[in-house]
Amino acid sequence: MRRYISLSILWMGFLSTALFAGALPIPALAPYSWVNGVKVFNMNIQQSSTQFFAGINTRTYGINQSVLGQTIRMHDGDKIKINYTNRLSEATTMHGHGMHVPASMDGGPKNKIQPGTTWTASYTVNQPASTNWYHPHLMGKTAEHVYMGLAGMIIIDDDKSDSLNLPKTYGVDDIPLIIQDKRFTASRQILYAPTRMEIMRGYTSSTMMINGEISPTLSVKDKQIRFRVLNGSNSTLYNLRFSDGRSFKQIATDGGFLERPVTLNSLLLTPGERAEIVVNFSGDLGSSVTLRETRQNINLMQINVNSTSPGVTTVPSTLTTLEKYAASQAVRTRSFLLNTVGGGMMGQMAINGRPMNINRIDNVVPVNDIEIWTIRNTMNVEHNFHIHAIHFMLLERNGSPASVAANERGYKDVVRIPPNSSVKVILKMKDYVDPNNGYMYHCHFLEHEDDGMMGQFTVVQNKSNPVFKWAPIVSDDIVTMVPSPLPLNAVTY
Ligand code: C2O
Ligand code: CU
Ligand code: CU
Repeated sequence: MRRYISLSILWMGFLSTALFAGALPIPALAPYSWVNGVKVFNMNIQQSSTQFFAGINTRTYGINQSVLGQTIRMHDGDKIKINYTNRLSEATTMHGHGMHVPASMDGGPKNKIQPGTTWTASYTVNQPASTNWYHPHLMGKTAEHVYMGLAGMIIIDDDKSDSLNLPKTYGVDDIPLIIQDKRFTASRQILYAPTRMEIMRGYTSSTMMINGEISPTLSVKDKQIRFRVLNGSNSTLYNLRFSDGRSFKQIATDGGFLERPVTLNSLLLTPGERAEIVVNFSGDLGSSVTLRETRQNINLMQINVNSTSPGVTTVPSTLTTLEKYAASQAVRTRSFLLNTVGGGMMGQMAINGRPMNINRIDNVVPVNDIEIWTIRNTMNVEHNFHIHAIHFMLLERNGSPASVAANERGYKDVVRIPPNSSVKVILKMKDYVDPNNGYMYHCHFLEHEDDGMMGQFTVVQNKSNPVFKWAPIVSDDIVTMVPSPLPLNAVTY
């Protein structure tokens, strides 16, 4: 049962920006069945209504629920089938963000699901434990569909996450937090109508919600509590902090565990980014702490520490060992410029001067090559950069390895690129050769993505370092060769 904000509790004056009302909704774990050794999920993309406000039904989209989606949970090595059935009256797609899957299973713009039809993502889970998510990716419609409520979490477990002594009881001490914001009309319907200026600057709102609930309350025990935080907004940056300034530990980035927990007092997430954090509430029995967003000064959620049931009391000091590549191992550097074309500040969003074209492959990436991608934002607005299928490590910010923050030193698939700055990342595609199906890369500010700040790459066979049968590379691509100490990897086109 969805709870709502009462608009009349004005006497709670000290809570100036939030009147904490309903309990934090925890999306149910999506049910599945085993069919011949395959875990099968049936996910219905549907139109419904949700009460964000007292007694008012707001039209929303959801997946197996009225708004947002059930949480899809899988284990590394599982054989998976996710049947996405579109019960909307318009086409959409469903992309597994952060999922390392074949391009044909990626749910990108070409995997269109027409109304009344089902599209199945089927693959073997092939990546470390991590917090990912699924959302539509239809050309020009991604922003609106996510805004209407189409977003859900994907949790991947593996043997390491199973064995680490971390909080891991879903909804109890392992809590999903999908943070978003929305605008509403006077009659409290979702208002998605960005102006040209808002496409550029961000379609943001100060009406923030977690898991589809405005200003929720969460009860926790006085132990270590893990939060899987997703910035599921279209274009809002969230800087999270607790009201008492307490520190917490980030244990995972987009791609999974950090090597060691990183102690923070605040956590900045741009759209599409995830972080797993662990907060120690021992000694807090009977008290309340507020999770705040400090850029807009909003109280997001009240946390009441009201039980003393057993739980995890310490966080392991080492979590995993990450495979790292040195810049000197890279055989190629690619450059991506985030800017507009035609009309300066009011022009169309593009990458390297080219707005997205679904019929164009922008980059051809040979499998098994280590590459450096340099991404530059030369605008006065925030951008970030997301790459499908792959997780990367940051080498530099603004040319400086030291400027990479401690909590960015893990595998990422979205990286913030503040105004007039650059990042250098290193990556390697290890499998899923398919010259015919592309993966996307794009700014994850969804208005920018829909406007054209997106490109497409394929992963192709590698002449000198193949994964299996060699197939010739057909498409041509502009590549910059960098000197490599590994001549065996030095592919030429
Ligand atoms: Cu979150 Cu291209 O996606
Ligand atoms: Cu993605
Ligand atoms: Cu952008």
